[in-house]
Amino acid sequence: MGRKIGMWMYQNCGGAQIEQQMIHKLRERDIETVSALDLRYAKATSGGIECKGTLLDQLNLFFSYNAGEQTDYQMYMYECLSDCCTTINNFRSFKLTEDKFKTNTLLHKNGIKTADFYLCNKDQPEGLEQVFAEFGSLVFKPVDGWGGVGVVKIDNFADLNQLKPHLNPDDYKYFYVERYIDYDGSDYRVDLVNGKFVGCYGRKARDGDWRTNVTAGGSVILREPCPEVIDLAQRAARVTGLEIAGVDIVFDRQTEEYVVIEVNGLPAFATPDQERQGLNFNPRKIDEIVEYIDQVTGRDSCQ
Ligand SMILES: Nc1ncnc2c1ncn2[C@@H]1O[C@H](COP(=O)(O)OP(=O)(O)OP(=O)(O)O)[C@@H](O)[C@H]1O
Ligand SMILES: [Mg+2]
Repeated sequence: MGRKIGMWMYQNCGGAQIEQQMIHKLRERDIETVSALDLRYAKATSGGIECKGTLLDQLNLFFSYNAGEQTDYQMYMYECLSDCCTTINNFRSFKLTEDKFKTNTLLHKNGIKTADFYLCNKDQPEGLEQVFAEFGSLVFKPVDGWGGVGVVKIDNFADLNQLKPHLNPDDYKYFYVERYIDYDGSDYRVDLVNGKFVGCYGRKARDGDWRTNVTAGGSVILREPCPEVIDLAQRAARVTGLEIAGVDIVFDRQTEEYVVIEVNGLPAFATPDQERQGLNFNPRKIDEIVEYIDQVTGRDSCQ
């Protein structure tokens, strides 16, 4: 029987073209793709999970690559689907890396350098005074935020008290802070597929800002990683278990070490503008994803 996979890929910022290239390359390997399988429309019965006329649990694999649109229902369906079909990324790792605190805890346990962190009950933040004494400046962030939203630098305990009334209780179930890393305002984003390095670029904070997020005014820069940066990214991705990962790394000027800031389970391909700027890793990333899908859907047993 032929192989068939499901796909839910973002369509903006060049995503639709990337999807077409991937589908074409999969077809060359006799893998059929059903696209646009948004789990928002999935329904489950004793007969299985169905989405837009396709029985998802009969697919050889489900490729989920759409950031920012995941409702609780879609996440739940992604989880249920992952129990009966291979998913990329695997749900467990994807869910893990949606949480910055849990990810940092795991990385730290595995000897991978991250910012020091502290999590406490938001109603019992007294211990933070001690943390300020130890860390100096802090970065306060929602554990599951994105795009730099809600990420605030706090330089002393008094400022923290000013921040508190502005926090939306639904967004902040806990207090999570990290030691502010003294870095030069630029980072590395290392893209990996199945542990293989596929590309790297950097982001540079806007003048006067300390965050590198493009949504916070940061800009994308061309950047060659040294072997140490690639090795750190590979180790971080391996520990999280993500098949496709984008690892954000900065250089700590105090300790003179590279530090992992974040591991992303939905690292975007270069946009057409970024490709024109010289970010040329898309073809390699597409090839590695196609190769990986071919491998895990049992290329050898199907021939
Ligand atoms: N501990 C830290 N010390 C110094 N700078 C930090 C620290 N944590 C984050 N930053 C800066 O703030 C930016 C945003 O933080 P982070 O990446 O953790 O959250 P996010 O951008 O909201 O998440 P996502 O990248 O998933 O959208 C980072 O890109 C980095 O430039
Ligand atoms: Mg980030």
